[in-house]
Amino acid sequence: MERQPDEKLNQQEFLFFSYGRELKKPLHLLELLKRTTIHGESNSALIIGPRGSGKTMLLNHVLKELMEVKQVRENLLQVHLNGLLQTNDKIALKEITRQLQMENVVGDKVFGSFAENLAFLLEALKKGDRDSSCPVLFILDEFDLFVHHKNQTLLYNLFDISQSAQTPVTVIGITCRQDILELLEKRVKSRFSHRQIYLMNPFDFKQYLRIFKEQLYLPAEFVYKPFVQKWNKNVQSLSEDRTVQDVLQNHFHCSKDLRSLHMLLMLALSSITVSHPFMTGSDLLEASKLCRMDSKANIVHGLSVLEICLIIAMKHLNDVYEGEPFNFQMVYNEFQKFIQRKAHSMYNFEKPVVMKAFEHLLQLELIKPIEGLPVRAQREYLLMKLLLDNNQIMDALQP
Ligand SMILES: Nc1ncnc2c1ncn2[C@@H]1O[C@H](COP(=O)(O)OP(=O)(O)OP(=O)(O)O)[C@@H](O)[C@H]1O
Ligand SMILES: [Mg+2]
Repeated sequence: MERQPDEKLNQQEFLFFSYGRELKKPLHLLELLKRTTIHGESNSALIIGPRGSGKTMLLNHVLKELMEVKQVRENLLQVHLNGLLQTNDKIALKEITRQLQMENVVGDKVFGSFAENLAFLLEALKKGDRDSSCPVLFILDEFDLFVHHKNQTLLYNLFDISQSAQTPVTVIGITCRQDILELLEKRVKSRFSHRQIYLMNPFDFKQYLRIFKEQLYLPAEFVYKPFVQKWNKNVQSLSEDRTVQDVLQNHFHCSKDLRSLHMLLMLALSSITVSHPFMTGSDLLEASKLCRMDSKANIVHGLSVLEICLIIAMKHLNDVYEGEPFNFQMVYNEFQKFIQRKAHSMYNFEKPVVMKAFEHLLQLELIKPIEGLPVRAQREYLLMKLLLDNNQIMDALQP
């Protein structure tokens, strides 16, 4: 008798993930995948959650657990696709063939349609009766990008197979688009099981601080035992330190993404050496400055003296005319005034040289022509806008 799909599996599942420990929760997903391999059921599901909320991690965790079952390990075939890599269905199909190691079987065959080709691949996996047909798990990362493929052919066919009883196929999509179902064509959507797993990261700062500590703690099995205790004690006292808490607070408000916390910690950890074996608050402070470094301010740092003078002239003009657009001639005049005041310390460049510097700034996109004006106007009189704000300029001018 056919097994009825478990009712519970049909519901939308919201996983309020907290760090690490709760990873064992998504039993439904594990159960779902087990059914494919062990009972030959076909399924489909979507994992939905913001960037860095642990979708890939969750799936990898479940797959690892799944692979511990002997029957699964010996039977299950996995196909991993990524919307960023397989940008159209032809490439996707090629990749599926490759991952199923069927290039030889397909050979030079020409197929009438995509569906035929896919059906052929799956048919070749059959060993006779349905029970012994090889189950296939399709994992589509960046699932939302597959939606833009022509006619959504790949998705249509995968979901279609996962609904009909030919080969046991499970399709798992991973995406950060909450509105993903709206993006599916009607005929695709109707073939999807509507099983969705939502991941949320609603942790507060207290938990964030705990994650910070857990990330830094050395495990007990670390080779050099006496150091573990000292290191972990230092981490504990760091987490109680005011500056550290401020840095983390700032970081937390910018983004709760654990990836950016990892980045911060990596940068801070890279300052650890033999002579400086413990992390300090100022290491973290430095790291957070590096994390938040403004790329534009960095560009300004690398400009020539003349170019910086022009930027300052533009800033003056902005201050005087309250952000009205300027042209090269105005900047040049302002620059001349500056030269006359500081005649002894600054070399006066010729106008074409200044123009060249001005155009370099344009190339670097530090200034931008105002749109909607005739482009045929003389170069000197094209109206421009400065794309830096005062803070960025002042930051860049600090030694
Ligand atoms: N609940 C969690 N417990 C432990 N670590 C987590 C958790 N959530 C996220 N992380 C960490 O955050 C990082 C990013 O997670 P992951 O790569 O799984 O995100 P993702 O949801 O797949 O993001 P993307 O949409 O960019 O692919 C991982 O290195 C992981 O260690
Ligand atoms: Mg991911």
